[in-house]
Amino acid sequence: MSGRIPENILEDILSRTDIVEVISSYLPLKKAGRNFKTNCPFHHEKTASFVVSPEKQIYHCFGCSESGNVFKFLMRHERMEFPEAVEMLAKRLGVIIPETQKHSKEPSSSTLIYSKINDLAVSFYESNLAQTPAAIEYLHRRQIKPQTIKEFRLGYAASGWDGLINFLRLKLIGLDLIEKSGLALAKERGGYYDRFRNRIIFPVFDVRSRALGFGARVMDQSLPKYVNSPETPIYTKGRNLYGLNLSKDYIRQSDSAVIVEGYLDFIIPYQEGVKNIVASCGTALALEQIRLLKRYTHNVVMIYDGDAAGELATLRNLDILIEEGMNVKIVSLPVGFDPDLLVRKFGVAKLKSLIAQASNLFDYKFGILKTRHGIIDANAKSLIAAEMLSTINKFQNAIIRSEYIRHLSEGLKVQESYLLEELKKIKPLDKHFSLNLQEKKKKLAINPAEKLLIKFMLEEKNVIERIRLELAPTDFQDERTSKIVALIYDLITQGKTVSPNILMNYFDEDAAAELLCESAFMPDLNLQERDKAVSDCIQRLKRDRLKSKRQNLHTQIKNAQAAGDQQALDNLVKQFQDSIEKG
Ligand code: CTP
Ligand code: MN
Repeated sequence: MSGRIPENILEDILSRTDIVEVISSYLPLKKAGRNFKTNCPFHHEKTASFVVSPEKQIYHCFGCSESGNVFKFLMRHERMEFPEAVEMLAKRLGVIIPETQKHSKEPSSSTLIYSKINDLAVSFYESNLAQTPAAIEYLHRRQIKPQTIKEFRLGYAASGWDGLINFLRLKLIGLDLIEKSGLALAKERGGYYDRFRNRIIFPVFDVRSRALGFGARVMDQSLPKYVNSPETPIYTKGRNLYGLNLSKDYIRQSDSAVIVEGYLDFIIPYQEGVKNIVASCGTALALEQIRLLKRYTHNVVMIYDGDAAGELATLRNLDILIEEGMNVKIVSLPVGFDPDLLVRKFGVAKLKSLIAQASNLFDYKFGILKTRHGIIDANAKSLIAAEMLSTINKFQNAIIRSEYIRHLSEGLKVQESYLLEELKKIKPLDKHFSLNLQEKKKKLAINPAEKLLIKFMLEEKNVIERIRLELAPTDFQDERTSKIVALIYDLITQGKTVSPNILMNYFDEDAAAELLCESAFMPDLNLQERDKAVSDCIQRLKRDRLKSKRQNLHTQIKNAQAAGDQQALDNLVKQFQDSIEKG
């Protein structure tokens, strides 16, 4: 992660930046002993388990394990790339990062190039719109106000074949880059032409308002209705949510988000005052979109068109939202309406009241299934039960599951015990949670002695020297602790500072930061206690080392026996006896 920007610059920035100051510009931090606390912005919770340490310059959530230093916080909270987070903090301090390190061939510089090209295109389309009365008239007919046009930076692509290409060429942008950014297409017989022609342009921005791509709508009934940017180095469909750059603060403040489908379904309600809204721009919500939204809220109201396609999309989306731990409610609109039309026809108050009365997912899905199956006989009951149970099964919380089982039992007039029996049958199929659990178990499996030793090493240089005399990095069984220890020994040899916020710059994986923070936040001991704990932990690891050595020898002995290799056997047995004498 840090190979590109020199370590000493990173350390300089870290040593002059206060993590508490940075985080408190985003979250209300409250003093709690030596630390600061607040509700975790990365998962939903009612009691504060997100802790920031001014001494250690790190944060850690005891609920969801999200942890890191100030760079990581910005990456997570503001969705910045590492170099961007560094640059932002550097700027505050007036630190200059050498250009060569900043813009090389790394992905983030390509992000810069492409979003710059897109930016140019946005302004080009904007000024085209200003010169095209028919396009302005179209937007006016759709009741989009001039102020809204500005805010969303709507534009117009003229009917010519190379308007944008020529404009970008004048700005010295190469044709290959224009093509790669999805704005131009190659002709079969050579040359290029503009992808978007004679269409209203909806620029798609990321949360930080960088232009990622475009959607473009015809102004009449011709097809296709929309042309969208293809996937490009910076634009991946299903990673972004339209409008989140404008709505994220409203979503955070209201702790809820309305999810709609289309550009207009976002723009019109937003313009009229439903500000906590995002659009998925297509039908199915992708996992990454949900994870993105989850940074701002765990409560969503889905509004999808009142037609069969909308209904199916909603049902598909439900399960994945639940799996991600979101609280979901659903509004189904009258047939033939989408949020845009509804607001234009009946006013925003109507939409607001539908949102307020959104049904919970149980009622919604149950309602659809009942209509679909018609008469509720035994057969229909079992089909409906199976569908409902598979959704209910996605809830992690047992109380919620039991509550829905009770509802289902009432709704179907089937005893709860039968439903529970059926639920048990689908349980093992649920890979998602068993995987999650396995991950959690793996995390727990790190020997606490290893974590404690890391904690002590982070606190006191002398402790590192002491441990280094007794234990090699490989004596730490967990791969992550072992890597961290190797790094600590390395840095100490080079006479460098060892602190958790600096160490984590050396690792790309989240797991390393998590482990460092978890260790650092283990309960503090006084000097005497620590001294004893260090000895105990060292002994413990030495014993473990011996034990695993013996196990290893044991296996080898068995193998040698099976192979009838007497010489190897003698040698191994001798080693085994030695190890027992030592222990
Ligand atoms: N969409 C798309 N390509 C299409 C049709 C739709 O990418 N050919 C996406 C667009 O993001 C669109 C959304 O799906 O906004 C919803 O489609 P639809 O309901 O058909 O369009 P609306 O957004 O409602 O547009 P309008 O009201 O102008 O018809
Ligand atoms: Mn519409």
